[in-house]
Amino acid sequence: MNNMLEFKKQRYVLIKNFFDPKNLSKETNKIILQAKEKKWKFVKIYYNAYISKFLNIFAISYPLNNFFESNFDKELLNINYKNKVKEITSWKEIRTTGIEIQHNIKYNYQSTWHRDWSYCPSECLNIIIYLKDEIGLRIVPYDKNNELDKFISIEKKGYMNIPSSFYNIIDAKAGDILIMDSGLLHQGFAKGNRTHIFIRTEEKKEKVVPINNFENDYSVEEYLKSNLDISKLNTLSKKDSYNFEINYYSFNNKIKSLLLTFLYYFPILKFFKYLKDFKKKKIHFHYTFFQ
Ligand SMILES: [Fe+2]
Repeated sequence: MNNMLEFKKQRYVLIKNFFDPKNLSKETNKIILQAKEKKWKFVKIYYNAYISKFLNIFAISYPLNNFFESNFDKELLNINYKNKVKEITSWKEIRTTGIEIQHNIKYNYQSTWHRDWSYCPSECLNIIIYLKDEIGLRIVPYDKNNELDKFISIEKKGYMNIPSSFYNIIDAKAGDILIMDSGLLHQGFAKGNRTHIFIRTEEKKEKVVPINNFENDYSVEEYLKSNLDISKLNTLSKKDSYNFEINYYSFNNKIKSLLLTFLYYFPILKFFKYLKDFKKKKIHFHYTFFQ
């Protein structure tokens, strides 16, 4: 089936071997490193546990900002996903409303079942550019979308226990890209590490004159632009659902993460497994009962 027909039916499509991940990976890794070393404020943290100077980052926001020294935008332009998006959606032009680098190291990640848009089909797309092999993201394709109501749990305000026959598991390799309707029900799920670029795109009706510059050619929103100063970013980032104002290095938050660490070791069996892992190949998150 061609990409367009597949997208029409499922509202998502995984395009294999779309680009060579070598250069984009290199530039992305520079950002990840600088975000840690220079303590970039706009990072998203997943269950922080107490390890000195360690933050359990799962995403780096506003990666185009000049704070970072990297050719990330040039390499992103090089892979040229715009034509593919236009081909499968028949959109005239595209507008970029979100970009983040989603990256975790040695632990597992699992989000709840959710939609990024309140209805489906929507006018918004999530694009995932895979820089590492990654298996796990679960998506309920559009043709099963109408059968989902019986899985809604009112008291927990969400979808619960969706049988595996309803969803597909994305098995992506570095160099693949996934294009999905933001309104599809999905669950982030990764065992082990992951590095990918997450982009949100909407249709733009006006014509764009390309000048071989990512911010221009992909109509990047103001808050994502490279030359935005930090004080403006502080204001604009308040619109994000994530609260970037938490200081993870504060005394209170260190105490909180110490408690979280204790909870991670519960039940005690997992704790012994962790002790037996002499080389500490996996950090304690792997042994939590949450995973
Ligand atoms: Fe999501």
